[in-house]
Amino acid sequence: MKFVLILSLIALFLCSHLSLSFSIDPIEPSNLLPRPLILQYTSSIEEPSDSTLTQLRCDSWRFAVEANNLAPWRVVPTECGPYVRDYVTGLPYKFDLEMVARESLNHARTVEIKGDGMDAWIFDIDETLLSNLPYYTSHGYGLELFNAHEFDIWVEKAIAPAIESSLILYEEVRALGFKIFLLTGRSEGHNNVTIENLKRAGFLHWDKLILRGPNDKGKTATTYKSEKRREIEEEGYRIHGNSGDQWSDLLGYSVSSRSFKLPNPMYFIP
Ligand SMILES: *[C@@H]1O[C@H](CO)[C@@H](O)[C@H](O)[C@H]1NC(C)=O
Ligand SMILES: [Mg+2]
Repeated sequence: MKFVLILSLIALFLCSHLSLSFSIDPIEPSNLLPRPLILQYTSSIEEPSDSTLTQLRCDSWRFAVEANNLAPWRVVPTECGPYVRDYVTGLPYKFDLEMVARESLNHARTVEIKGDGMDAWIFDIDETLLSNLPYYTSHGYGLELFNAHEFDIWVEKAIAPAIESSLILYEEVRALGFKIFLLTGRSEGHNNVTIENLKRAGFLHWDKLILRGPNDKGKTATTYKSEKRREIEEEGYRIHGNSGDQWSDLLGYSVSSRSFKLPNPMYFIP
């Protein structure tokens, strides 16, 4: 008898407890979950492979290079050698170059050409109009420290090909009526080979080619190019656009109203 009573009491307790909990449910705030939320992860999250990690690190490195956050830098990190090779010899470099050319042209088309012949666009030469990729192909794509002597021998061959998207931009900008200034870190001693190379690559007309003279020796590219831009301005030109693969082509003073940075993960010039 006692046993039955105890069982009944237990049953009663359970029922009241259950009914209590049921009666509470409807007034629970709707934002509360009825039970703990269990986030289920897939049981096998794969660790990124070494090659994926290298790729990601080299992406970060190249982003820092292009954004000028990593300045100065001397050589491509060893682990990024194959990455830079694949980039410059493949579609990524081509597409990046095409993007810059497209945006440059979009800007050029918005400029009101005054008709006084004083609206100017500046182009750098190496890795902007002409590609030295054939040289860098045999010099580790930037893994090797820059060798001025060997590079001079290459420059004197005057066989650097055009960067195609830049050649198209160049012609379009000229056709819009801009005066074209070529401002290069090459020295005056390379004047003739540079002209020869430009013409061979399809750059046939420009208004002024400026090379480093004896007074420019030892200056950083930023200083040398700023000085030359100031001279251009002092002659009365309005610099609307400036295209270069180095930040030292674009920064400093007398900067252009718009500057366009072409990609170059192979070398850095201060
Ligand atoms: C460059 O070309 C000019 C005119 O064609 C010539 O007079 C001069 O000697 C050349 N300079 C060099 C360094 O070859
Ligand atoms: Mg350059």
